[in-house]
Amino acid sequence: MNYTERVNRHLDKYLSNQGSLTKAMRYSVLSGGKRFRPILTYTVADTFGTPLNLADSSACAVELIHAYSLIHDDLPAMDDDNIRHNQPACHKQFGEAQAILTGDGLQALAFEVLVNSKQLSVEVRINTLQALTHAAFEMAEGQSIDLNAVTQVIDIDTLKNMHQKKTGALLSCAVQLGVLISDCNENDAKILNQFSQHIGLAYQIQDDVLDVLTPEEILGKRQNSDADKGKPTYPTLLGLEASQTEYERLYQCASNDLNGLSVDAGRLQTLIQQLKNRIF
Ligand code: IPE
Ligand code: IPE
Ligand code: MG
Ligand code: MG
Ligand code: MG
Repeated sequence: MNYTERVNRHLDKYLSNQGSLTKAMRYSVLSGGKRFRPILTYTVADTFGTPLNLADSSACAVELIHAYSLIHDDLPAMDDDNIRHNQPACHKQFGEAQAILTGDGLQALAFEVLVNSKQLSVEVRINTLQALTHAAFEMAEGQSIDLNAVTQVIDIDTLKNMHQKKTGALLSCAVQLGVLISDCNENDAKILNQFSQHIGLAYQIQDDVLDVLTPEEILGKRQNSDADKGKPTYPTLLGLEASQTEYERLYQCASNDLNGLSVDAGRLQTLIQQLKNRIF
């Protein structure tokens, strides 16, 4: 079973209660998505020889926060996008009020999953919760900066900070969760933190580039959404080619970071290549 199948199986399990929000939660979470955040958590765990059953709750929790962020991101008051994962966005399918609540429900479920992960010690559980709550807050702050910046001209440092918060924080957290559940020395943890910062920023710059380059059928969401909304992005500030060069440079930095690890980084290097080559 690969990481994607593994996280899907556990997400399905966590979303199995019969509450009134379950249908919409399942619709949005189980409809697709590349699962890069859980894949990062599992890959880090595997890198340190950590049994993957210790990583399941973290992998699901970080994906649940991500799924909630996408539902709210698509709302009319935010990016006002109608398509996500090649199907109507949550608010198009269930209405705005239910979509807001679906996001709220997923966020709460993420923390519940971690609190209840009996396979982890109480101390590790608190550490993972601390990491995820912090990242969820940073994501919201990044989204706030993003929405305040619509049609504004901002400088590259402001844009970088926005990207690091709205997207980098959660990707970084996915790596950190893998570290927290593993027997990982301080130096390796430091290296992986650096690695995760590089990946996190690269990922959103690439998302901006793919918004311009990839057609809707492949992207699974609307192409040119950013330009249509007047969003400041890397391509609008630096141009398309310079933006591509920049995210490739950041992935290369992430790859170089791994050279300092005390364990075999083969799996993480392969993952960087997959990230770099993605087209949606
Ligand atoms: C899209 O993230 C939004 C960002 C934070 C960049 P992903 O491209 O990882 O979304 P899915 O889950 O794979 O659709
Ligand atoms: C999303 O950034 C960041 C989130 C925290 C959800 P985008 O608004 O660019 O994500 P997409 O392109 O709609 O997936
Ligand atoms: Mg957005
Ligand atoms: Mg969006
Ligand atoms: Mg985007």
